[in-house]
Amino acid sequence: MAQRAPLAALRELCQDLLRPAALPQAAAEPPAGQPLVLAQGLCKFYPTQYGQVEALRGLDLTMAGGEYLAIMGASGSGKSTLLTLLGCLDRPSRGSYHLAGQDVSQMGDRELSRLRANHIGFIFQTFNLLPQLTVAENVALPFLYRQQSPELVKNQVEQAIIRVGLGHRQDHRPAQLSGGEMQRVAIARALAIKPWLILADEPTGNLDSQNSQAILALFQELNSQGVTLVVVTHDPQVAARAGRTIHLLDGRPLGAPEQAP
Ligand SMILES: Nc1ncnc2c1ncn2[C@@H]1O[C@H](COP(=O)(O)OP(=O)(O)OP(=O)(O)O)[C@@H](O)[C@H]1O
Ligand SMILES: [Mg+2]
Repeated sequence: MAQRAPLAALRELCQDLLRPAALPQAAAEPPAGQPLVLAQGLCKFYPTQYGQVEALRGLDLTMAGGEYLAIMGASGSGKSTLLTLLGCLDRPSRGSYHLAGQDVSQMGDRELSRLRANHIGFIFQTFNLLPQLTVAENVALPFLYRQQSPELVKNQVEQAIIRVGLGHRQDHRPAQLSGGEMQRVAIARALAIKPWLILADEPTGNLDSQNSQAILALFQELNSQGVTLVVVTHDPQVAARAGRTIHLLDGRPLGAPEQAP
């Protein structure tokens, strides 16, 4: 029997996800009464053929739900590494990380991916949209990894697209959108799962200043509605809009005391 192309299978799955059905399911809220993010002595070391790279060398961070944090620092200072850890894409080499009270440092790969799929939204500089899928299908992608009723998926996808101001573009493909609109789709995709935490790595890095301003205004609006944001940026204008900023230098927050090796 001829095998369908992976893309055709993916599109079919998205169609299924967007088709109305029964069985609504509630979105999980983070447990109350504890920090959303609690990182202590966070370190990440990468072994390479030239020796160990100490990308993150001891970072303490506590965040409550609803905060808006910016992370700044020179190239190579460990910003993306920190996002990777906060986003449960990897475990720390040393130190601890609790997300909503759950000890991420001790989790296996399967648990980590479940936590990611259910509770973390990612936004990247290059948007990372699939060009062959429509706006709605792209926003529905994170639901491929979740057990949720198609009716609820359709609803959440639609709500997220409307929230970022693209209700009139649901059936467009990425190539038919401006850079700013593509980033809005990526934001809708991160929002749609109603995550505990949205992590953005240089989200305005590929945008002109007008589109950047619009994206920043959208972040502020989302944050004022309770969305928790962590944004990595080189742009002081971005950081100026956040509630607080961490400056990294060589894998440590600026001014943090040197840790024992
Ligand atoms: N997988 C890896 N293996 C080895 N070294 C790595 C790896 N990922 C990152 N590094 C190194 O860790 C350090 C921190 O990298 P990171 O990507 O976190 O920096 P960054 O602050 O995000 O930089 P930029 O602003 O250029 O994106 C750098 O020296 C980098 O070369
Ligand atoms: Mg980076």
